[in-house]
Amino acid sequence: MRHQSLLAYARYRYLKVTMVVIGLVIAAYIWHRPPNGPYGGTWLGYTLGTVSALLVLWLTYFGVRKRRYRSTLGTLQGWLSAHVYLGASLLAIATLHAAFQVGWNVHTLAYVLMIVVILSGFYGVWAYLRVPTRITDTLGEDTLESLLLGIADLDRALRPMALGLPDAVNRLVLASAQETRIGGTWRQQFRGLDSNCPTAAAVAGLQTIGKALRGDEARVNEQVYALMARKQELVNRARRAVALKARLDLWLFIHVPLSIALIAALVAHVVSVFFYW
Ligand code: HEM
Ligand code: HEM
Repeated sequence: MRHQSLLAYARYRYLKVTMVVIGLVIAAYIWHRPPNGPYGGTWLGYTLGTVSALLVLWLTYFGVRKRRYRSTLGTLQGWLSAHVYLGASLLAIATLHAAFQVGWNVHTLAYVLMIVVILSGFYGVWAYLRVPTRITDTLGEDTLESLLLGIADLDRALRPMALGLPDAVNRLVLASAQETRIGGTWRQQFRGLDSNCPTAAAVAGLQTIGKALRGDEARVNEQVYALMARKQELVNRARRAVALKARLDLWLFIHVPLSIALIAALVAHVVSVFFYW
């Protein structure tokens, strides 16, 4: 039950921590009445800015922590749960740091990057909750490897069966064995379809050719057709599993690089603030 405990970890410990933190920050913001109105440069503004920046560094450190399998500093589950809730708390902390003064300037770049990282994180959580179950539904008792082995077995069985049949059948069987792609380019993986799939073409072709065959040939062609249809089903399931996996990973290509860009933008923000001070 990995997915549930991501949000519910330790009876929502990090949701509670986050609610308290956000409550305190909002209370301080309301209570604080600086002479020139709230902005990032008051003592509270600096405090919230510093807290936000430290949070960003800690959140990014998760990428390192994730790969330290031998660390004893908390479970990965706990870290991820804290990451998700405290990451979302930046929406409140950084917005109150800026006192809602978000315009089109270098400071806003940091803010916008932060929002995009957080939104991609929301997508990530959604994907973590939804996609693994769908991968399991697609694969059933199988794994991707066992599907690929099943496809290879069918290819091996099909080739000798087709030998006694017309050339057109052999061409279809050979093309299906040699040119069917599962995965392929990144785009193809993501779509999970191949509109020029040689196996789909073989299934359609064998049916047409079969109509003109008689006797033994018709019977063997029927068997070849049945195995090819079974292969098509395995190929489709394998492609669907690959597509779901790609969807599970896609958001990280936004989340992680933009985290790094966010740190760079933050450095620019802090430097420019002190430069104009
Ligand atoms: C995640 C971290 C941060 C974000 C997203 C952020 C974002 C912003 C934004 C959008 C503004 C409003 C700019 C405007 O008035 O147009 C602002 C103002 C400001 N920030 Fe930050 N900031 C962060 C961290 C920090 C840190 C670490 C410091 C300094 C230690 C800092 C210092 C300031 C100051 C002094 C201002 C007022 C600038 C002015 O209005 O002249 N910020 N920040
Ligand atoms: C500015 C805020 C954030 C920063 C800088 C940040 C940064 C990171 C980094 C560097 C990783 C490690 C990824 C890897 O190396 O594979 C990560 C993972 C993750 N982040 Fe964030 N994150 C932020 C906010 C969020 C938010 C708000 C959420 C969800 C609501 C979130 C959800 C996740 C999830 C689910 C992972 C786990 C990815 C995995 O284990 O494959 N993040 N984040």
